[in-house]
Amino acid sequence: MLDIQNISKTFEPGTVNEKKALRGLSLHLDRGDFVSVIGSNGAGKSTLFNAIAGVWTTDEGRILIDGEDVTFKPEPYRSKFIGRIFQDPMKGSSPSLTIEENLAIAYSTSRAGLLGRAITGRERKVFRETLAELDMGLEDRLRTPMGTLSGGQRQAVTLLMATIVTPKILLLDEHTAALDPLTAEKVISITKKIVEERNITTLMITHNMASSLELGNRTILMDDGNIAIDLKGEERENTDVERLLGLYREIKGQNFDNDRMLLS
Ligand SMILES: Nc1ncnc2c1ncn2[C@@H]1O[C@H](COP(=O)(O)OP(=O)(O)O)[C@@H](O)[C@H]1O
Ligand SMILES: [Mg+2]
Repeated sequence: MLDIQNISKTFEPGTVNEKKALRGLSLHLDRGDFVSVIGSNGAGKSTLFNAIAGVWTTDEGRILIDGEDVTFKPEPYRSKFIGRIFQDPMKGSSPSLTIEENLAIAYSTSRAGLLGRAITGRERKVFRETLAELDMGLEDRLRTPMGTLSGGQRQAVTLLMATIVTPKILLLDEHTAALDPLTAEKVISITKKIVEERNITTLMITHNMASSLELGNRTILMDDGNIAIDLKGEERENTDVERLLGLYREIKGQNFDNDRMLLS
């Protein structure tokens, strides 16, 4: 489903601020793979997502999605089949529009244009059913403005928006990091449900090392613009946080340095 071949990206090349953010990274994901991505600040995790989403073109390498070479396709083209959610719950939706209007916009991207026409009864039924699955009581609040929801509710609706038309790839960039622990747990379990039921190929950046070994079927640790550790199958099942840190030490000859990750 996703085939990344040897991609590199250097920011501000040839200046004192030059930063090699991706260094010949390759990654192959099968349909339905659910990958947890971890790594210290600045390791290149968000940059990898930007490369997949097409925010800019990589300096080297190729990116194929579902067999299509998208290396030189712009972000708006890729966004038709890539869902992406960021850390900030305020980012993914329009606060002044209602819940149903936000969902309708997401629902209509792969259909005929939405703006200027009314939401149909059939669409409203789909929205109500989808919202009911969140178990947050939002199915009875279709006409509530998005801006009045809590961060967790908003992030949950954003997740529905990103998946209401099943994406080929779902990119979650610490999408629960700004939520309180209980709400974060709730949004994670909704994520798990949607991703597993619909077999969506997913990459999820998290700062929680323990949950990165539990959620999904693969764990990738990024370091200095590349993948340092890639765990799946039986090896992953036999890996706990301590072993993961040990692997890192073996490969890098130094301790993993992210306090935030170790504490959470
Ligand atoms: N648009 C940009 N311009 C310049 N430097 C950037 C840009 N995007 C990312 N970087 C740099 O690339 C490195 C990787 O960043 P990032 O992918 O955001 O790390 P993280 O793993 O924390 O998500 C960092 O050193 C960051 O400062
Ligand atoms: Mg980041």
